[in-house]
Formats: sequence, structure tokens, C-alpha cells
Amino acid sequence: MCGIVGFTGRKPALPFLLEGLARLEYRGYDSAGVAVIERGSDSTEGSSDVVSIVRCPGKMADLMSLPALDGVRGDAGIGHTRWATHGRPSLENSHPQTDCTGEVAIVHNGIIENFRTLRAELEERGCTFRSDTDSEVIAHLVSVERSADRKSGLVEAVRKACRRLEGAFAIAVVAQSDPDLVVGVRRESPLVAGVTADAGLLASDFSALISETRDVVVLEDDQIVALRPGSMQVSDLDGNIVEPTCTHLDWDLEAAERGGYEDFMLKEIHEQPRAVADTLRNRYNQATGKLFLDELRTDSDLLKNIDKVFVVACGTSYHAGLAAKYAIEHWVRLPVEIDIASEFRYRDPVLDSETLVIGVSQSGETLDTIAACRYAKQLQAKVIAVANVVDSTLAREADAVVYTHAGPEIGVAATKTFLCQIAALELVALYLAQLRGTLYSSEISDILDEMHSLPDQIESILAEQNVDQIKAEAARWSGVTDAFYIGRGPGYPTALEGALKMKEISYLHAEGYPAGELKHGPLALIEDGVPVVAVVTNSNVSAKTLSNVEEVAARGGRIILLTNPGAQQEYLKEHDFPVEVILEVPETHQLLAPMLDSVVLQLLAYYVAKARGRNVDKPRNLAKTVTVE
Ligand code: M6R
Repeated sequence: MCGIVGFTGRKPALPFLLEGLARLEYRGYDSAGVAVIERGSDSTEGSSDVVSIVRCPGKMADLMSLPALDGVRGDAGIGHTRWATHGRPSLENSHPQTDCTGEVAIVHNGIIENFRTLRAELEERGCTFRSDTDSEVIAHLVSVERSADRKSGLVEAVRKACRRLEGAFAIAVVAQSDPDLVVGVRRESPLVAGVTADAGLLASDFSALISETRDVVVLEDDQIVALRPGSMQVSDLDGNIVEPTCTHLDWDLEAAERGGYEDFMLKEIHEQPRAVADTLRNRYNQATGKLFLDELRTDSDLLKNIDKVFVVACGTSYHAGLAAKYAIEHWVRLPVEIDIASEFRYRDPVLDSETLVIGVSQSGETLDTIAACRYAKQLQAKVIAVANVVDSTLAREADAVVYTHAGPEIGVAATKTFLCQIAALELVALYLAQLRGTLYSSEISDILDEMHSLPDQIESILAEQNVDQIKAEAARWSGVTDAFYIGRGPGYPTALEGALKMKEISYLHAEGYPAGELKHGPLALIEDGVPVVAVVTNSNVSAKTLSNVEEVAARGGRIILLTNPGAQQEYLKEHDFPVEVILEVPETHQLLAPMLDSVVLQLLAYYVAKARGRNVDKPRNLAKTVTVE
């Protein structure tokens, strides 16, 4: 997730670009840059205009402090704040990216899935690449199309280039040869445009535009917008002109930064379909039927020879690791131990060069997890990091890394990164299964098909009527002081994560337990009206979990049952099962279910916390990144 801005007008572009980027910095903050077209004095169009680029790794403050910005003049330009996906944060990988001659400059948000093929093709045609980004191919492609047909203009060149791109993108383009034109295109990544009497404006979200206009056009997939001072034209990738629909915004600036959501947490919950889709993107080669995890860059013989796996992580990441334990053991048939990272190195674990240690961390900066992985490396174990922040300490120090592509998460409570961690970890599990031959390729592709349905299934959980039902349930929690979450198998990590979300943001006492464990002690705490959230989506242990639910109901617990539509509900009716509330979740493979079931529990925690007037984005006593032991 990166931030994009574009401006063309009858006044200097730089103030708008910098102000807009500062507002979009929450979308990415590992590098920033602008490209502005500086007009020459020569009257021949384009002949002495230049595209000036100023960019640097680091935050907006680093960009703003560059003396080079002082000399930048020009009325049209584009800008970018980056959240690295392909290529570590560095000067070369910062945007804008240009073609070989520097005539065309682009900024990009998203992932170009076929960039390797395109890059090879463009290199063969003589293009020289200077970055590791997937984005650079766009600049070269536009330039190649532009040179092939100079008469048709920049918009047509961008259109042709985009037809070659696979994946998700929002792009802004400028070219020296058409100095007051800014072109934008989107596919599966947000892009909005606006126009005033003397300017054309482009951005990844409204917050960057509303200082200039409150009437905006939300571009749809495969639409291309051509902006000039005071004018906007929208067309599709076939060249047909499209009549854009204008939306008037009443939001204040802060609401616009949250995309209109009340909090970043809610926004991030709603971003989950996209985040999971991005994590799964470009991992499977249809032609060969093979799963590939390029980032692993690791000797496959080494992975074939491992005889044990440890997962180390903290908090929510630990819960994702626990979900992965079930998947790795089932699919790869390797023993997996899961450790709270702060316990790992002090308990003298047994590991050697044939052990694989997977460190899971959103931030990649959690000291406990980093220290556990360092310790594992000292003992010659192979370390894979599953991280969200590119080039974070954990990612740099590990032997290999798989990124989660969730984009920046602002809310302290992890939501979208949890789902993406499970997705990434399960991809690692399937990759190991492929390598070690523990699953047939048809089995792997069946599971991947189910994984690819998850974004739509998550979207359906977020539908208004479901959310209303969860809100209604949350309203019943006003006098609650204690709550229990139970599940078995993959429902257990879901229960733990549901309870953590509840306590973290609502400050309510909530405990997660394996459902079968209640009778060994915690059942003593169940009395009339205590809410017990039971995760009983379809699995090989759902019938057993239902028996545990009955034990709780018999002691007066108020059961809130998470289940799939269909068979189980029939069973509940037939057995006159004492369930007060049923929250339905679409059905999927049981090992993928935590990625759906958890969404309901995030929403439940969110609405209980809101009803209690909590600051869900910044819960008390907690920090987003914990860099102390
Ligand atoms: O950045 P990490 O994933 O390593 O962070 C680990 C925990 O601190 C984190 O998951 C924490 O538990 C979250 N606040 C949970 O919502």
C-alpha cells in the first residue's frame, strides 16, 4: 500500500504534492519522492522541458529536508510515499521511477504480477533497469509504446502499457513531451481524481484532495483519467470515453484520512479482503501447477532435509503461528513446536541445523521475536521470517523472508495483518508440502482455490446485515465483566485471538481456551449469563466442540455460537441446542477457517469497545511495536 498524488495546474505543483503526500504518509513511509515537469524557455513544445525528480528513502520529513526541493519549479507533477513490496527501501527503489531517458516518470501502488516476464522482454529490447521494483517496468513500457507511436500521445501509450500489466495497480504518469498532462489508471487499487477551474488533481484517497476540492471522481477498475488544468477526461482501456460519476464529500480531513471510517481499526478490518488477496497474489504458476515463494531464496535441499519446525512469535502473531502449526503438521507431516518468543531462548530448546524456525512478526521489530530468531541462528537452525514490514530487522536478519503484503497497519490491535500472517504461513506450509511431496499437486491446487475464495468470503462477512447482527450482539455486552472464548483444532487459535482482541480494546476480561480444557478448571467460572463465544465452524472436531458447548450451557453460560450455515444448524435444531445467538460464517477448508471466523470476532470486540467509549486505535498501556524485552 503506497500513497500517490498528481497535480497539474496554473500554479506550482510542489505545495499540493508535498501536502498531499504528508496526508497519505499513513499508507507507506519507507521512501518518498516527487517528479515535477519544469518548463524550459524554448517555445517549441517539450523541447527544453525536463522532468525533475527528488526522492529519498525514509519518511516525508526526510524528503522535505532535501535542499534539492528548493530548486524545483513546475506546474505539473506526481508524488509517492512508499510501502515496499518488491525491492528494499533505498534511493533506487524509491518512486518516481523513470524510463531510460528520464522522459517518462511514474508512481505506482500495487503489485505487478508479470513484472519479471515484462522486465526480461524490455531488457531484451535494450531497456536498462536501475531498481529492484516491479513498478519500473511501467515506466519503460510507457516509454516504448510512446516511441513506437509518437502521434497518439501519452494517454494512448499508458493505455497500451496497462493492457500488458497483470496484477493490481494505481498509477500516475507524467512525461516531458506533454508537460501539462497527468495521467492516472487504476485496477484493484484505489485512485480518485478531481478538477477545479485551474487544476487537475489525483490521489490514492480523498484526504489528499480535499484541500482543493470536495467533488471527486472515484475511478473504477481499468479506467484511465487524463488531467489538465481545469479539465478531466475518463476513458476505459479500450479507448471508450466514460462519463464519470462525481461524489461530494462532507468528511472532515481526519475522517478522510480514515477513508470515512470511524477509526483506523475499522478501516483495516474492512481492508482485509484486499490485504488477503495481495498476500496470495502471484504465488502460483497456473502453467506449471506449482506454488512458488520467490522471496524464500533458499536452498530447497535444505528445506527438504529439515526434521522439525519451531514457530516463535508474540501476541496476535503467536496466534497466527498456532494456526500454522495445525496446517504444517497436517500438510507437511513435520513436528511443529510453537513458542511465545519471550520464553523460547530461556527454556533451552533443542534445535540444530536440521531445524526450521519461523519467526512471525507484523512489525519485524519485536525484540522478543528477533532475539528468539538470533538464538536459533546461533544454534545453526534455518530461520524464515514472516513479516509485514519490508526490510525490518527480523526480515533482514533471517535466512529468508515471506512478506504478508497487508500494507501499513495503524491501529494498535492487529487485524488485517493477522489474516495475512495465516495466509502467508499456510503458503509456506503448502510450499513445504510441495517440496517434500507430502501432498499431491491437485490437493495443493484445491486448497489454493479455496484460499483464493477467501477475499470474497471475508467481504460477505463484512456485509451490512452481518455487521448489524454483530452490533446487536455487542449491545448485549453492556454489563459484562468476564467472557470466554472456546474452540478446538483451528478454532482454538481463533478463540485465543478473539479473546485477545476483546481484552485489548474493550478492557473487558476475556479468556480463550481449548474447548476440551474447560472441564479441567475454568468451568468453575461459568455462571448465569456469562458470555461464552464458541467457535464451531466445520472441522473434524466440531461435534466434540458442541459437546463442550453443552457443558457450558448447562452451567448457565450464554452461548454465542460461530458456525457455518447448513448442516450444523440442523443438528442444533434437532437437538434443541441451548444457543442464544448464532453468528454465521461462510464455510471453507477447516485449516483456513481462522481467516474467516476471526473477522466476526474482530467486529464483536470492536463494537463492544466502541459501546464502552474506548479509543480502539490506541488502547491504553499498549504500543504498536514492542522493542523492549
Ligand atoms: O509486530 P509483531 O507482530 O511482532 O507484534 C506482536 C504483538 O506485539 C502484537 O501482535 C500485539 O499482540 C497486538 N497488539 C495484538 O493486537
